[in-house]
Amino acid sequence: MNPISQTTHSALQKWVDEMQALCTPDAVAWCDGSQAEWERLTTLLVESGTFIPLNPAKRPNSFLARSSPSDVARVEERTFICTKRPDQAGPTNRWADPAEMRATLTEKFTGCMKGRTMYVIPFCMGPLDSPLAKIGIEISDSPYVVVNMRIMCHMGSHILKRLEDEVGGTFEKKRDGHGQFIPCLHSVGMPLARGEKDAVWPCNDEKYIAHFPETREIMSFGSGYGGNALLGKKCLALRIASNIAREHQWMAEHMLIVGIHAPDGTKTYLTAAFPSACGKTNLAMLVPPKSYLDAGWKTSIVGDDIAWLWPHADGKLHAINPETGFFGVAPGTAYETNPIAMESMKMNTIFTNVALTEDGDVWWEGMTPEKPAHLIDWTGQEWTPDCGRPAAHANARFTAPASQCPTIDPDWQNPDGVPIDGIIFGGRRPTTMPLIYQAFNWSHGVYIGATMGSEMTAAAVGTIGKVRRDPMAMLPFCGYNMGAYFGNWLEIRRHLTHLPRFFHVNWFRKDEAGKFLWPGFGENMRVLEWIVKRCHGAAAGYETQIGWTPAFEDFNIDGLLDFTQERYEQAMAFHTAEWKAELVSQSEFFIDLYDHLPKELVFQRELLIARLA
Ligand code: OXD
Ligand code: MN
Repeated sequence: MNPISQTTHSALQKWVDEMQALCTPDAVAWCDGSQAEWERLTTLLVESGTFIPLNPAKRPNSFLARSSPSDVARVEERTFICTKRPDQAGPTNRWADPAEMRATLTEKFTGCMKGRTMYVIPFCMGPLDSPLAKIGIEISDSPYVVVNMRIMCHMGSHILKRLEDEVGGTFEKKRDGHGQFIPCLHSVGMPLARGEKDAVWPCNDEKYIAHFPETREIMSFGSGYGGNALLGKKCLALRIASNIAREHQWMAEHMLIVGIHAPDGTKTYLTAAFPSACGKTNLAMLVPPKSYLDAGWKTSIVGDDIAWLWPHADGKLHAINPETGFFGVAPGTAYETNPIAMESMKMNTIFTNVALTEDGDVWWEGMTPEKPAHLIDWTGQEWTPDCGRPAAHANARFTAPASQCPTIDPDWQNPDGVPIDGIIFGGRRPTTMPLIYQAFNWSHGVYIGATMGSEMTAAAVGTIGKVRRDPMAMLPFCGYNMGAYFGNWLEIRRHLTHLPRFFHVNWFRKDEAGKFLWPGFGENMRVLEWIVKRCHGAAAGYETQIGWTPAFEDFNIDGLLDFTQERYEQAMAFHTAEWKAELVSQSEFFIDLYDHLPKELVFQRELLIARLA
């Protein structure tokens, strides 16, 4: 096919032409992000069997996709950071030589789009006028990717136009990277011979999710799923952005952003980092208990997964959410646990790997107390409650527009972001970690984030149940040496005059009988109240060896009938023996990172040992 110029941005046109020559698709389509395009592509996906339209009376303009059972999660063992020297990627990443990876992938991508359409997707992570906004162009042979990207980020002709105006000099510089774009190449890796019938979920057993931080490029081959394929999300907004952030004194973090509105009219924004599937979406969409609602507390959401934070001219740390949608874990989400998420996905939503009900709606484990009598499960088989198989995959997802969220913050698209007063770290810890404690200062806070650990879940392929160190929940997402990343955190402090406070929470601690000590969900508001007040110096804290903690009498348990002081003490206790084991496990991790580990964190560890001794 003879390429026709589709853009005045010559570097973009050149790259698209080259990719067309390499991948040899049957057609090239430049995505405009319009409703008509959505309708065209969702119809195509229905015709090819990838999408099942849901009952429009129950779930308007929504679809169910079932992936191949071999393509259900991010593939960390196939995710590469390709830098000149291995130590630039660091011991927590899989390193590959950029020239070798490029050669391997050039071979993989050669002819890989035969029989398919190559979509060119102009997109922007972050509000376009934000100084941090990043424009990317994803080339993909997956229409599933196009429609998901339309929900997850600003996408379409207006982004292309902005890029063209920036190089054409008709647009005044607002964002860093003015006129530039991040090339993101994606293929499901399954070329089609002439007349060959396509698979319902095309993918390739061999997968590569490759990042080139030095040249700011992403190449993803073989998977059609989530973070492997929607390249604006984990690949750009975390792995590549963390590199850009480090060079330009900002931070790209795996964090939710939530606003807490107090009865006195003040609003406090908090960010929180938890490893995947630890309830980030639930915390970002928290509905306070009735007593709090009656008193005038409420929450609003800016983002549920990624925060870009920078030292603002006002001396505060500001944050934007680079995404415009939620790619949330469906199982466990219910009106009882997260009504805001349930409301957000009432229409215009794509479900992946959930079960189909007899009346054409969706279901997953935990959605209703009663299991339906009959379903079609995520693999397309008949399902009954006694069949012994889960109906939805544990990592089944919903892709829903954030604009549909009833508690979306009025400033969620403010290019200037929202000012952050508190930073929360946490993980799934059945033992050791108390419900809540506060760091003594910024470097202690960075130490707490750097040594975070969590039980593994289904969001990544790995050993479920094992505790792994997951610093700032960035283990799978930091695009450079983790030791240097801690250095960036410490460095940011120098650019701030108003310092956010740091906290660590654990909603998942269990008693000897294996029962959760803390009810979680909306009740987490009680912990947030103490956090918010501490941020403003308005609540007492008691100094312990590990940090500041609330005393029982300063902790609001009004209306929490079963929660006795004894239960509180159990949830808040720290046991020296457990902490010694924790320190040993932390030191193993620190040894791996030693080369680039800031000494300040080694001192923090020494201080903790001294306090515990
Ligand atoms: C996600 C993840 O999809 O962290 O957000 O895995
Ligand atoms: Mn995530």
